[in-house]
Amino acid sequence: MSRQRPGRGERGGDRDAVPIAAYAEEMRAEAVAIRRVSRRFRDALANDAAAAGAPQDAEVLRRLRSEQITGIGRVVYSSNAVFLLEMEGPDPAHPDEPLRAIYKPARGERPLWDFPTQTLHMREAAAYVVSAALDDGVVPPTTLRDGPHGPGSVQLFVHSPADDTHPPAAALEEHLRSLAALDVLINNADRKRAHLLLGDDGRIRGIDNALSFLAYPRQRTVLIELGGQPLPKPVARRGRELAADDDRRAHLRSELGSLLERGEVAAFEERLDQLAATSVYPTLDPWDGRPFEWW
Ligand SMILES: Nc1ncnc2c1ncn2[C@@H]1O[C@H](COP(=O)(O)OP(=O)(O)O)[C@@H](O)[C@H]1O
Ligand SMILES: [Mg+2]
Repeated sequence: MSRQRPGRGERGGDRDAVPIAAYAEEMRAEAVAIRRVSRRFRDALANDAAAAGAPQDAEVLRRLRSEQITGIGRVVYSSNAVFLLEMEGPDPAHPDEPLRAIYKPARGERPLWDFPTQTLHMREAAAYVVSAALDDGVVPPTTLRDGPHGPGSVQLFVHSPADDTHPPAAALEEHLRSLAALDVLINNADRKRAHLLLGDDGRIRGIDNALSFLAYPRQRTVLIELGGQPLPKPVARRGRELAADDDRRAHLRSELGSLLERGEVAAFEERLDQLAATSVYPTLDPWDGRPFEWW
């Protein structure tokens, strides 16, 4: 979680000295920003949910966006308003259970001083788009949906393993390094331990990817110790191939352009080129490079 906006009284020191006009201007700018992101949401929703996804996720992405919802419950351990949805048809990997998704409505996003208002759901979807472009399988299928509490993101629910059997350490390490490379590309400012889920397919998935894609360097990660190390060969190759493929890049640019600001997409492309050229995890500041809460 990123730091919360300072309270209004904390801003200028002397509360009475802050002109009302400044608040009015701030509220007006916020309203404009929300209208802007709502328009972007509408436009993005007009595209096929599968267009930005990995081919193997096409069906589940379409279902996440529009399948009938049969149940909704609040996830209490969350900093934003987060809901678990159940849908009509079965979960493809668990045919006896309904399709489940984590739904994060824009309206339930806690304001943060460093991220533009009500853009976190777009960033959740954008993180999946990059993961899908790399075909690294580290972000669960995620798309946008106009859900029961309005516009938001929906992400396929990750089922945890039924018992304590863990995949071999080498496999887990490979997933973590792959995820760490994705975090570099998306400039993830909030990779905490709690945002790494082990699925019942034995893979680690990165969830809660919303605090990403700022246009300036902002990475914070629990995997900070990878800084300075080379990327594993297959991870480096995936990045290099994407960076060198004009068609895939153009498609990705256009998909990200429907979710993020232009400057954020340009900054993403710079990070992609940089990582493709160096194939080394960046060394982060030992203090600022850590997530705000260390778990
Ligand atoms: N795709 C998912 N699959 C399973 N559980 C999830 C998924 N996404 C979130 N959760 C659960 O919901 C909790 C809150 O979600 P999170 O994304 O961390 O929300 P917040 O934005 O409020 O930090 C997580 O700690 C996790 O337990
Ligand atoms: Mg969280």
